[in-house]
Amino acid sequence: MAEVIWGLGTSHVPSIGAAMDRGLTTDPRWKPLFDGYAPAREWLAGRIPDVAIVIYNDHANGLDLDVVPTFGIGTAERYAVADEGYGPRPVPDVVGAPELSLHLVEQLVDAGFDLTVFQELDVDHGLTVPLSVWTPEPGGAWPCPVVPLLVNVIQYPQPTAARCYALGQALGRALAVYDGVRTVGILGTGGMSHQLAGSRAGFINSEFDHMFLDAIERDPAALAALSRQDYIRQAGSEGIELVMWLIMRGAMNERVRTVHSTYFVPASNTAAGLALLENA
Ligand code: DHB
Ligand code: FE
Repeated sequence: MAEVIWGLGTSHVPSIGAAMDRGLTTDPRWKPLFDGYAPAREWLAGRIPDVAIVIYNDHANGLDLDVVPTFGIGTAERYAVADEGYGPRPVPDVVGAPELSLHLVEQLVDAGFDLTVFQELDVDHGLTVPLSVWTPEPGGAWPCPVVPLLVNVIQYPQPTAARCYALGQALGRALAVYDGVRTVGILGTGGMSHQLAGSRAGFINSEFDHMFLDAIERDPAALAALSRQDYIRQAGSEGIELVMWLIMRGAMNERVRTVHSTYFVPASNTAAGLALLENA
């Protein structure tokens, strides 16, 4: 039985990765954000899991916008870092965990979640920035193999928050019957409130974000009950990325404890947040 030893909810703003890649983390504009990450990174450094599951969305970099699956999973041995227009980030390629991926495909399809399978996938900032937030200096390799789990949050109709939470619960059950690894870390990524285009571009809702950071620990069912429209209205058209945190949360125990959380505005156009959870 694989044990989920932590869940990390974190924003994936591309400029957070760029700030790290360019050595700007102590620049006065960036230092407060990275100082906020420090306690989580220290706690996580002593708890490297056998494998990490990264729940993320592609932004039309690894996938074509003509084909956007609602849910997908990578089953590859390796994932290359996508070129998003400025060349790939100078970070290691991502080593996969194909045996666990195939176990999850079987279990989750049997549970009624018909995942699209990616035998080949380039991973964009949605996956690599959360890895950098977790583990800032990968050197030649990230600390453990990764299973990418993809969610459509960029084209209507996105999956509901309730469906995402239920997928997380099925993921938790699938891990509980897997003996191939001992420990798993789960990253739920994206958010927090932001809107990148249209008349509300630059929209931030700190009140909603703080409610979310509190409820992700104490009352995930309340977050799962919010509609797609609620997320877009209250967190912005890209703030709906937050539904991916609910997949992470669903895979954890009913009761969890927040090890550390932090919130910073603005990172680029986005409210950047982090919540590190462990099972109570
Ligand atoms: C920004 C935020 C995102 O979530 C994203 O995918 C791309 C850009 C931003 O704030 O710049
Ligand atoms: Fe995004």
